[in-house]
Amino acid sequence: MIRNTSAPFFSPSRRSLMKLAGAGAVGAATALSACSETATAATPANDAIDPDALAILSSNENPYGPSPKAVEAIKAEAANLYRYTYPTVSKFAEMVAEREGVAPEQVLVTNGSTPILAAFSDWVNVKGGKIITSAITYEGVPRVAEQAGTEVVYMPLTQDMGYDMEAIAARVGPDTGAVYLCNPNNPTGKTIPTAQLKAFVEDVSNKVPVFVDEAYLDMSDDYPGNVMSEFVAAGKPVVVARTFSKIYGMAGQRLGYGLMPADMAMDMRKTGRLSNVNYLGLVGGMASLEDTEHFEKMRATMIRGRQKLIAMAADLGRPIAPDPQGSFIYMDVGMPAKDFAAKMLDRNVRVVGERWSDLPNWTRICVGLDHEIDKCHAAAKEILTSI
Ligand SMILES: Cc1ncc(COP(=O)(O)O)c(C=O)c1O
Repeated sequence: MIRNTSAPFFSPSRRSLMKLAGAGAVGAATALSACSETATAATPANDAIDPDALAILSSNENPYGPSPKAVEAIKAEAANLYRYTYPTVSKFAEMVAEREGVAPEQVLVTNGSTPILAAFSDWVNVKGGKIITSAITYEGVPRVAEQAGTEVVYMPLTQDMGYDMEAIAARVGPDTGAVYLCNPNNPTGKTIPTAQLKAFVEDVSNKVPVFVDEAYLDMSDDYPGNVMSEFVAAGKPVVVARTFSKIYGMAGQRLGYGLMPADMAMDMRKTGRLSNVNYLGLVGGMASLEDTEHFEKMRATMIRGRQKLIAMAADLGRPIAPDPQGSFIYMDVGMPAKDFAAKMLDRNVRVVGERWSDLPNWTRICVGLDHEIDKCHAAAKEILTSI
């Protein structure tokens, strides 16, 4: 494993901190006024409403839950779950293919997107070659790859905590099996500028398969301009992964899909490990895709939540990875993140402790209901003002 831990990450100097704090506050004010009408109309999911419940701001879920139409569809179909799902998978794949502009054979449907990430890692392991990605990124592909014995090359982040696309492109060589990109990146929330990403995917996919994990892309400012499915449609060795766990609020129901070359999808199907797609997930997924009004409401709500987190960090005077575009911020808490997380848990708020060990003082905090973010804010203030 090659991991450069001396990368010059975003420097938490007082000046940059102040600049960032200002930017966060301005962004927050704008987003709040732009989205307040829509966002107040969003209804929270059940278990998060209790003000005394544990505020779970660690799992990047959508606390507003699924589309009510998805819930209705699931209830209506519950008695039909005795059947295998093959025809429903096909129906869902056709629906997705039409939306994404690809062929149905290029859609691989799974229980959440985790199986797509794992299957891709295994596929590269069989074909051979290293996986190149960035330091401080989502572990779904690298972790499975390393477990299978594939070497993963972690390129350092840039100064502003973005992917170093030039360095990644330059590192691709005869020993490379694939590249994994997470856009926006989990945990930094940074997106790769669209023009740069398109040029990268166009060029690098001529050499090796490129995987773009778009789990949070539909919450980003540039959406849908930064969607990479056009490369799959063009027949390039590109994989795009999507999930219903985030903006669609269906993490517990498990549904995701990958867009990829038809022969790669067939290789993955043949492993026999991906035929476990659940019926009610598919039913809820199809109803969710049709409920565009709810999607827009959730997009506004998650963006508003993100701005609330940015404003929180600014008020706490803590640096964050700049310009987050997912449903979370990545914040330097100025103390070991695992101690911070333990103190937060004492105050009934769960945030991510030390998960990316290269940055032991950084924690990821995700969008919750307003009262949960307020509880997080108050708890963090109490902890951070006492150090
Ligand atoms: C970037 C990214 N990709 C993929 C996943 C996997 O999600 P799921 O299996 O619920 O679709 C996650 C989950 O947090 C994620 O953050």
